[in-house]
Amino acid sequence: MLEGKRVTLRGLELTDAEEIIKHFNDLEIRQFLGESIPISKQEEEEWIRNTWKMRQEGKGHIFGIELHSSRKLIGTCGLVRISPIHRGAELGIAIMDKQYWGKGLGVEALHLLLDYAFNILNLHRVWLVVIEDNERAIRSYLKVGFQHTGRLRQAVYKGGIYKDSLFMDILADEYGQKQS
Ligand SMILES: CC(C)(COP(=O)(O)OP(=O)(O)OC[C@H]1O[C@@H](n2cnc3c(N)ncnc32)[C@H](O)[C@@H]1OP(=O)(O)O)[C@@H](O)C(=O)NCCC(=O)NCCS
Repeated sequence: MLEGKRVTLRGLELTDAEEIIKHFNDLEIRQFLGESIPISKQEEEEWIRNTWKMRQEGKGHIFGIELHSSRKLIGTCGLVRISPIHRGAELGIAIMDKQYWGKGLGVEALHLLLDYAFNILNLHRVWLVVIEDNERAIRSYLKVGFQHTGRLRQAVYKGGIYKDSLFMDILADEYGQKQS
């Protein structure tokens, strides 16, 4: 478990599936994640089982984001596509319960995850992809030290139009400098 001031990052259990899909099937959230088709509880359980497999194989580390105060699961985050040669990984995060957006919890979870990536897993680079109009997410990523590195034109079909996706990344020494 990774402990912050207000949130803990912990492994997912099959019993989390119900809470996750309650919010994950909300189209507003799914579209921020570049997806649109709803999923079933069984598919969510399969995804959770797959997070355990990824961790065992060293390919990914996915956590639930839990509030300290109530032990409520409010989202998930993690590192996937871990490359043992290049020491890189892709970061993803979703606070699914909308009432918890914009309260600084996402930035806290990102700090916990980057600290884990660079200081525990000894990664060199963490990258992500974000849709161009996801201003809240972009603001959070810039806040913890990510930089813009590229653009995929018209990569996502959202709300009837094509949107660009942006690449962002952060290197271990940049994160270290930001902390000191
Ligand atoms: C992206 C996400 C993790 C951010 O977490 P959060 O807890 O909502 O964000 P925080 O409160 O920690 O920080 C948000 C920052 O963006 C700012 N912000 C909030 N709403 C904003 C908006 N509509 N436009 C621009 N900036 C906004 C906040 O003011 C804050 O910056 P500040 O501290 O400098 O004022 C969360 O909103 C989320 O999970 N969204 C849905 C799924 C998603 O988009 N995932 C990312 C896919 S790439």
